[in-house]
Amino acid sequence: MRTRSAIFRGAKQPISVEETILQDPQAGEVLVRVAATGACHSDYHAVDGRNEAPMIPPLVMGHEGAGVVEGIGAGVTDFAEGDHIVFAIRPMCGKCKYCSTNRPNLCNGIGNEPGRMRDGSTRFTTPEGETLYHGLATFSERTVVPEWSLVKVPNDVPIERLASIGCAVVTGVGAVVNTAQVTEGATVAVWGCGGVGLNVIQGAVIAGASRIIAVDVDDKKFSFASDFGATDTIDASKLNAVEEIITMTNGGTDYTFEVIGNPQTTRAAFEATCPGGTACMVGVPPEGGEVTIPMRPLFFDRRLIGTSAGTGRPRVDFPWFIELYKQGRLKLDELQSRFRPLDEINEAFEDMLSGEVARTIVRP
Ligand code: APR
Ligand code: ZN
Repeated sequence: MRTRSAIFRGAKQPISVEETILQDPQAGEVLVRVAATGACHSDYHAVDGRNEAPMIPPLVMGHEGAGVVEGIGAGVTDFAEGDHIVFAIRPMCGKCKYCSTNRPNLCNGIGNEPGRMRDGSTRFTTPEGETLYHGLATFSERTVVPEWSLVKVPNDVPIERLASIGCAVVTGVGAVVNTAQVTEGATVAVWGCGGVGLNVIQGAVIAGASRIIAVDVDDKKFSFASDFGATDTIDASKLNAVEEIITMTNGGTDYTFEVIGNPQTTRAAFEATCPGGTACMVGVPPEGGEVTIPMRPLFFDRRLIGTSAGTGRPRVDFPWFIELYKQGRLKLDELQSRFRPLDEINEAFEDMLSGEVARTIVRP
């Protein structure tokens, strides 16, 4: 069928919105009409040329979204036409060592090459027949994905409200609750108050943290941070955040999160922990990026850890997030600052860079 999709044709050039040809879902695959999809910085790391892999051009972009099932391939029994779904950034096979030990975010039982289906083929081409690579391809009116990349969700919540659950929410809230396991009453500091960082902040609220200190270099971000539950803010373009946090908390916070993907702020997050504290790197690292940390603080039970997709268990965590949202304990409406059509995909990323939005949501 004919559809329209946003295509990454190489770093440092505008994303191009084009008519594309989408094949029917094959065995074990599902056709989805995308209702809403978030402009996430992970995709932009390829557009600005910082990290190209795993986005090999020409590629249909987008990984954070929600939609409605429009068709199923042979053998699909868990999904039917009309079901509401959220895309999970990490598919799960349900059988490998990681899926069997409650860590499906690390699933290695699928073995896709980046940008291709498991059998090595792709489902998108241009009308001229040019192969288009793709992952979830949520920046498209329609997409075809393996059934293990989807989570069925209740249809009593407007589907577009759920657009960011599969990336920003699970990465941020999951880093706090699943990966670092922040304890009630603990103190927390968060570097980077973008779409993902705001979810670390609200994850800290859900975990029952006491003080939640938000650090950013863009002062437009602090009202979002406060709305999502930050108790204090530090403008790192004016102040030394590590020194401020150590003074404010009499020795550092119990947990820190780096949500930018920058070696300097990862080190700063480590240095701002108290003895026994944990620093968690959430941001996507630059290709070949390295972080150096002083050895002495490690000698006092500090930990520097990483997280991948919030150590999320999509089939458990996504329904939980929706319950929290219904109870008014998870902010999804507030995350959606601006809506744009697919043709404004470049503007959606400009919104993100401008600091004016929590998240811009594209409605293909
Ligand atoms: N110190 C403090 N804050 C910074 C710094 C810095 N040196 N550099 C950038 N920031 C802030 C920006 O001002 C912005 O508010 O980090 C935030 C990044 O937010 P977004 O651009 O909205 O990115 P987001 O989608 O939240 O992703 C953040 O997490 O999943 C990863 O790939 C993603 O690496 C990216 C990170
Ligand atoms: Zn993302």
